[in-house]
Amino acid sequence: MSSNKIVLITGVTRGLGRAMVNEFVRLGHTVLGCGRSEKEIERLRRAFGEPHDFCAVDVSSDEVVKSWASRLLASHGAPDLVLNNAGVINRNAPLWEIDASEFSKVIDVNIKGVANVIRHFAPEMVKQGRGVIVNFSSGWGRSTDAEVAPYCATKWAIEGLTQALAQELPSGMAAVPLNPGIINTAMLQSCFGGSAASYPSPEEWAQTAVPFLLALGPSDNGKPLTVPL
Ligand SMILES: NC(=O)c1ccc[n+]([C@@H]2O[C@H](COP(=O)([O-])OP(=O)(O)OC[C@H]3O[C@@H](n4cnc5c(N)ncnc54)[C@H](OP(=O)(O)O)[C@@H]3O)[C@@H](O)[C@H]2O)c1
Repeated sequence: MSSNKIVLITGVTRGLGRAMVNEFVRLGHTVLGCGRSEKEIERLRRAFGEPHDFCAVDVSSDEVVKSWASRLLASHGAPDLVLNNAGVINRNAPLWEIDASEFSKVIDVNIKGVANVIRHFAPEMVKQGRGVIVNFSSGWGRSTDAEVAPYCATKWAIEGLTQALAQELPSGMAAVPLNPGIINTAMLQSCFGGSAASYPSPEEWAQTAVPFLLALGPSDNGKPLTVPL
């Protein structure tokens, strides 16, 4: 088993994030997590006490992320692994039927949210000269489909943002755009409908994904990766 790591995960209240919490904790790592749902965050706090930390944070707010980061950097130091997992998808519709506020929401969470987290956590990681930043992309960050244009736009952006970031980081660190695969979560149900049920559960996925994430290191910097099935 690898030594105890501090793992920061956004979007832990359901889906992939929630399943990763269980697996990282089970393997002896410390999880610092966020999501917007106060109720689910409270449930996580009751399930996992210190040194883990769960907080209601909307990653699309730079101010909120800033104060979350300053509290966690003081209490736990720089994270070893940052998982920018929080994300939203537009309801299935052609681009011209997505109104401006829905389009902005997808951009604000999926792109600006990732940048907000990096803005406030990366400087301390750079100072230490170590750590891995994983930005959750998608198959739709490398291909496209009808009715998910806003989502595709954000995930293609994540691929570019992450590869540029990789060129900025000092040696000893890594930034990786990650396609997690296709997993039966609320997000998949929103775009795939009933056929989402034929894909693996987040819990099954996490058993492969978490060891894969723990093994990432400087040699992976800038590589677009996919969680192996
Ligand atoms: N499932 C798949 O097959 C699949 C495929 C490719 C890529 N992905 C990517 O994998 C990641 C996780 O997806 P998922 O399927 O687990 O989705 P999900 O079940 O919908 O969960 C999304 C998580 O993100 C959180 N979140 C959303 N907006 C947030 C915000 N503004 N601030 C903080 N947290 C926020 C949600 O919590 P709250 O609502 O409580 O905030 C929730 O915990 C996403 O980046 C997604 O694009 C998933």
